[in-house]
Amino acid sequence: MAAISRLDVLRLRNLSEVHIAPAESINILFGDNGSGKTSLLEAIHLLGLGRSFRSQKLEPLIQDGLEDCVVFGELQDGVSIGLSKTRKQGGHVLKLLGERQRSWVDAARHLPVQILNSESFSLLEGSPKVRRRFLDWGVFHVEHEFVNNWRKAAKCIAHRNLLLKERSLDRKQLQAWDVELVRLARQLDESRRSYFTLFHPLFQETLRKLIELPNLTISYSRGWDDSKSLEEVFSESLARDIKYGVTQNGPHRADLIVRVGRLGAEEVLSRGQQKLLVSAMKVAQGHLLSQVNGVRGVYLVDDLPSELDFANRRRVCELLVGLECQVFLTCVDQAELENCWSSALLPRKFHVEHGKISQ
Ligand SMILES: Nc1ncnc2c1ncn2[C@@H]1O[C@H](COP(=O)(O)OP(=O)(O)OP(=O)(O)O)[C@@H](O)[C@H]1O
Ligand SMILES: [Mg+2]
Repeated sequence: MAAISRLDVLRLRNLSEVHIAPAESINILFGDNGSGKTSLLEAIHLLGLGRSFRSQKLEPLIQDGLEDCVVFGELQDGVSIGLSKTRKQGGHVLKLLGERQRSWVDAARHLPVQILNSESFSLLEGSPKVRRRFLDWGVFHVEHEFVNNWRKAAKCIAHRNLLLKERSLDRKQLQAWDVELVRLARQLDESRRSYFTLFHPLFQETLRKLIELPNLTISYSRGWDDSKSLEEVFSESLARDIKYGVTQNGPHRADLIVRVGRLGAEEVLSRGQQKLLVSAMKVAQGHLLSQVNGVRGVYLVDDLPSELDFANRRRVCELLVGLECQVFLTCVDQAELENCWSSALLPRKFHVEHGKISQ
């Protein structure tokens, strides 16, 4: 269980000093616009993924006029994760159980975080990178070798691209990188494919609970022609690769293709339908994670009520409860999420007011 039992946030956006003890199931944060609800979700996201979902930059995260921000979380299983960021160059310290970490990998495994917000639509309408990140989040959590293979492949691709850009191509070197890249690509493809095979039925089952979309299909695309080996593809596309100075095919081009009939889902579905579809994708990942690893993630749901009518709001809430995960939901008016829960469940409510949070 990855539930956060204690959370401290200092000097992050308008949250000067917040100490809360969240419930292990449903937590609702309500408060006026600009009160600090999304900032709290951002703090949890930072702990689990090392980055914000709002901004790539560090500057806006730290409270105006101050030098650093700190987020500290204690998990139910006794694990603690602490993070501080300062404005000074490279000023970033991550600690897991008090020990300084050089990479995010171990902390991320303890705290799998999923976010559902207005940017989640980019899962349908955004570039393949967004869907690849979604898919790889899942593969990362169920297969431990994946991240190393992915890093090695990224290095090969970077070297290959440098060679492609040189005035005279060093074919021998290129071939050496290709051999390694082909080997790694095969492994990455296998990992992603096996993950997708597990994900697909869970996704369909989850989606059915939310909405009837009989013509909806989702498929995995590995990043190069299915009927050819990557060696063949590399040799066929060499002239184009040289022209653009970039490797056009490979595991870095993998994607998930979501369609309704022959059209892209984002072209056909309404905003509300898209929100339900994206929710089903993210919830299905949570089910898979707990089935395979016995780990339950933490779900951050920013502004669930927008775009959803009451019946659908309730359906999504039921799904979230069914996950048996820790969930943080935000809304402006707490009435928006009232009656969305069975009577046996009492969400823990937090009132957010000018950067102060009270239970
Ligand atoms: N670096 C910063 N320093 C201080 N305040 C900041 C900083 N960055 C953002 N803020 C302010 O923090 C406040 C909280 O923003 P946040 O997005 O968390 O609000 P919210 O409760 O989610 O509002 P909404 O309901 O509109 O989504 C805003 O008033 C914002 O202007
Ligand atoms: Mg907000």
